[in-house]
Amino acid sequence: TMATAPLDSSKLEICRNQKKSQPRPNNELVFGRTFTDHMLTVEWTAEKGWAAPQIKPYGPLSIDPSCCVLHYAFELFEGLKAYRTDEGKITLFRPDKNMERMNKSAARICLPTFETDELIKLIGKLIEEDKHLVPQGKGYSLYIRPTMIGTSNGLGVGHPDKAMIFVITSPVGPYYKTGFKAVRLLATDFATRAWPGGVGDKKLGANYAPCILPQLQAAEKGYQQNLWVFGPEKYITEVGTMNVFFAFKDSKTGKKELVTAPLDGTILEGVTRDSILALTREKLDPKEWEVNERYYSINEVAERAKKGELIEAFGAGTAAVVSPIKAIGWQGKDIEVPLLPGEQSGALTKDIASWIADIQYGREKHGNWSRVV
Ligand code: COI
Repeated sequence: TMATAPLDSSKLEICRNQKKSQPRPNNELVFGRTFTDHMLTVEWTAEKGWAAPQIKPYGPLSIDPSCCVLHYAFELFEGLKAYRTDEGKITLFRPDKNMERMNKSAARICLPTFETDELIKLIGKLIEEDKHLVPQGKGYSLYIRPTMIGTSNGLGVGHPDKAMIFVITSPVGPYYKTGFKAVRLLATDFATRAWPGGVGDKKLGANYAPCILPQLQAAEKGYQQNLWVFGPEKYITEVGTMNVFFAFKDSKTGKKELVTAPLDGTILEGVTRDSILALTREKLDPKEWEVNERYYSINEVAERAKKGELIEAFGAGTAAVVSPIKAIGWQGKDIEVPLLPGEQSGALTKDIASWIADIQYGREKHGNWSRVV
């Protein structure tokens, strides 16, 4: 058999939009509601491989009603951001991590994999077209949504022989309308987000729709988000659609511990999660802090809160970056998480948020984490 074509950024075709949007003022940016003037599409067939990538005016896709993405959820996505640095450069934050994860998601649902560096280059070209729409300022960025769908027509359940990558971009501000503000969570133990041997570590659209009902149920009771609690042990796994971290201080030894759940296949392999683990392992004094990926339960959190050992908690994801937590509803009561007096987070949460922002906005360098477009 002949080898099929790899994804090749040098084959890019550009059809420019007639219209050039004016940037909106930052205070009008609502997460993921407005998009830039162009999108990227690349089609794939089992027979030929990846076709010439295209940048074209943002607009509707035409899909047959029998298309497999609409019936059997052959869909996966990524989320990453481009930042306008203080010097005016535009950088992507750790795009290699997103591309690697995108290929893992694709492989799991029988969609084609691709050359990761080629898609990064193509995303760079897409941003270049609309670079006047990349916002500037603390908390502002261009959210990039690479997506892959199966596009075979017909209701037979099988391996798609046609697929497409598309990438759209959205100028965004803080994910929550309230900005960097501590949220209250309701622990959910009646529904399960992911399970051993499942696909909870893949960024499949099918993992997200089932997250909304528990979130609405939490909202009805006055909580902003739900906290996913797994199995008879009541292990804490994620918050809403983000990874989650807790910090404890042992009342006997005074030693502090930052904890998040281990990557056992039920946890999304978050880029922000990974960045926080790397930064805290580099920056925190090991005599004072331990950084652990381990199982921990809502019962441990409740007990340690009672002893005054729960010191901080926060969600971590690309969209919100760091989202401080101030309370967790569990068994009819609220577990309170302390905040710095008059502030919206604990001390470590605040440090982590600024360490990451400094790298994202180009004030600090960290290896190859920032990639200039
Ligand atoms: C995140 O970035 O935290 C996400 O999970 C993306 C979300 C908008 C679905």
